[in-house]
Amino acid sequence: MINELTINQPIAEKIRELTNEGKSPFYIYDTKIIEKNCHHFTGIPYHPKSVHFAMMANSHPGFLKIIKQAGLKIFVNSVLHLRLALDMGYKGSEIIYASSAMDEKSMFLVKESGAKLVLDSLSQFELWQSLFPGTSVGIRCNTGDAVIPRQTTGGCFIGNESRLGLTPDALIQLKENPFIDGLHMYVGTNISEIDYFMECYQQLVKMAEWLPNIEYIDFGGGFGQGEKHCSAFDMEEYSQKVTAIMENVSSRLGKQIRLILEPGRMIGFDAGYFVCKITDIKHRNQQQLIGVNASCVQFPRPMLYPDVAFHPVAIIHQNQIENTEPIPSSIYGCSTYSRDYLAQGIELPPSEPGDIVILGHAGSYCSSAHSDFLGFPKAEEFFI
Ligand SMILES: Cc1ncc(COP(=O)(O)O)c(C=O)c1O
Repeated sequence: MINELTINQPIAEKIRELTNEGKSPFYIYDTKIIEKNCHHFTGIPYHPKSVHFAMMANSHPGFLKIIKQAGLKIFVNSVLHLRLALDMGYKGSEIIYASSAMDEKSMFLVKESGAKLVLDSLSQFELWQSLFPGTSVGIRCNTGDAVIPRQTTGGCFIGNESRLGLTPDALIQLKENPFIDGLHMYVGTNISEIDYFMECYQQLVKMAEWLPNIEYIDFGGGFGQGEKHCSAFDMEEYSQKVTAIMENVSSRLGKQIRLILEPGRMIGFDAGYFVCKITDIKHRNQQQLIGVNASCVQFPRPMLYPDVAFHPVAIIHQNQIENTEPIPSSIYGCSTYSRDYLAQGIELPPSEPGDIVILGHAGSYCSSAHSDFLGFPKAEEFFI
């Protein structure tokens, strides 16, 4: 895979400005790219529709402000994120809350917020009905053995081996139930094969016909591109095909069913950059080991998903370099943890302490996956 990272002029200038001020490591985001990605989804011609950004991909208030202004609503899977969505000015009706194994306390909190709730099992549905009789909710579905499931980043989200959602044989027990207002499915993540989405969506649409009061169908997220084994996502083809499925189901059910989507990764992945500074260089095993003033806990995807994570790299050299020929290189973090790498097995020009390292595709599941393990703080985040 080509390891080149292109950076536009305003981002490059801001990176220089911030590093000159001593701000390193940090994330920087390009607002225009985030907005453009939002518009790809809001531009899907089917109506009625709502696009809910999946907050787990990036929960920085600056990021949430941009997506809100671009017309996106919000999807959350925890009480903390529900509170953040409310603090950001989202109304309950603009929030979708889906999780699993909810306790009564969280059900009360979600009910009070007015968020649309999606439940994950028959017993969760029974619990909800016992707490709030006659109050409608959505149900998360799973294709069971109707579709051959794919392993996607982070495992299986559908199929009998997945722990999530109600399979058709469970959902049929709720056939004709009047208190289900929507069906939800999350096919998996980092997927660019449109036909795989459609194959799964067709199964969800069939299940919707069992329920008399369905108002919405939520196809979740999962849209991917820019990873090692993931080709470009064809938004135009997706847009046409999802619209056709929705028009078809609405005409069969004799009412306009709302389409809900929950994109996470695609909204910001190519809008974010992680920037740090070279603090040490070692040469070992015919490779250049580049040590930086940051740790994998601040930029965690390469550690969490070593097989798929792809983050192109650019180096800004402080001094003129004579030999720009790339050599085998890895970028390692400044802890003692043996797996503390920010990039491995790539080709980079010979570099020096003081040079700036920029890692791309850093806008989704990067800052939000920070952990306290190893003791490095969350990197600061800036927006231009
Ligand atoms: C239910 C649900 N919806 C949406 C998303 C966002 O997914 P993606 O970033 O793959 O679009 C997730 C991510 O885990 C999810 O679990």
